[in-house]
Amino acid sequence: MENTILLSCECPGLPAGSQTVAGRRVCLEVLPAGLTIAERLARISLEQRLATVGLVTLLTDVLDRDTLVLLKARLPNLRLIANYAVGFNNIDVQAAKELSLAVTNTPHVLADATADLTLALMLMVARRLCDGANEIQTQGRFAGWSPTYGLGIDLKGRTLGIVGLGDIGRKVAARAKVFGMNVVSLQSLRAGGIREDDVPRLSETEFLAATDVLSLHCPLTPQTRSWLNASRIAQLKKGSIVINTARGDVVDEAALASALQSGHLYGAGVDVFCGEPVVSDVLRAAPNLVILPHLGSATVETRTAMGAKVLENVSALLAGQMPLPTQVNL
Ligand code: DGY
Repeated sequence: MENTILLSCECPGLPAGSQTVAGRRVCLEVLPAGLTIAERLARISLEQRLATVGLVTLLTDVLDRDTLVLLKARLPNLRLIANYAVGFNNIDVQAAKELSLAVTNTPHVLADATADLTLALMLMVARRLCDGANEIQTQGRFAGWSPTYGLGIDLKGRTLGIVGLGDIGRKVAARAKVFGMNVVSLQSLRAGGIREDDVPRLSETEFLAATDVLSLHCPLTPQTRSWLNASRIAQLKKGSIVINTARGDVVDEAALASALQSGHLYGAGVDVFCGEPVVSDVLRAAPNLVILPHLGSATVETRTAMGAKVLENVSALLAGQMPLPTQVNL
């Protein structure tokens, strides 16, 4: 049987079926439906399991240590876990390493789409666009233009504070400057490899005090979990905006909702939230909060490019190259 790559589901850029990847035959096969990866693996034949060298996972697939041990037992020839996402907080990468499983992600290709969506969220919140659209489309109650109807605030002249100045953060910075914003960043959460640019890096205290619009672009790690908590929100100016397109768990949602309720924050926009896909009641009830359903990378071009990144890693695996091009657990 051909080398098999199992897919958690159909993904743009990853056509299922037998094909030649970098001169080598490989079969991309979608796993049968089921609740967990482990349960779904139990539904495929022994022959297929023995042929499997790679598994393409989604950010919604949880691969903790126990699941990885089980995967290795069911797929003895498995060498690659290719996460179809740039974030890989759903995988215990250290446990994968100990089990000789390379974990890869899809960096760079989704930075533009996510940066675009970040600016869209800022505009939606600052200009109260959802309220306007909702009133006219859902409630049908637009009484006509008036000098005080639907007033928002300008982004121009405000200071954008970026947490996580990686690929996405830098692209957000560039876009925000075109909108006439000042941009500052908090550098301490990012380890090394900073490219020089004209975004001043401030200490946490200075950063929080200077920021009008806080935008989160850091990965979810033990250090960043609940990083935006009540104490840090309190250090933001009254009337600030919070934007989260990173991971829901970077924010203490109860603290965010309470700062929206009290009016300390002007508004917030989140494309990600804790416990996805279910929005908590506390978040749902918060005023001037725009919630999007994790759409950051959702363009045809970006998702296809993410598939191509996965294939680059598959092709390197089949060619016996190590480390793989975007391996995260070296
Ligand atoms: C990722 O790739 O980590 C994104 O959250 C998907 O939009």
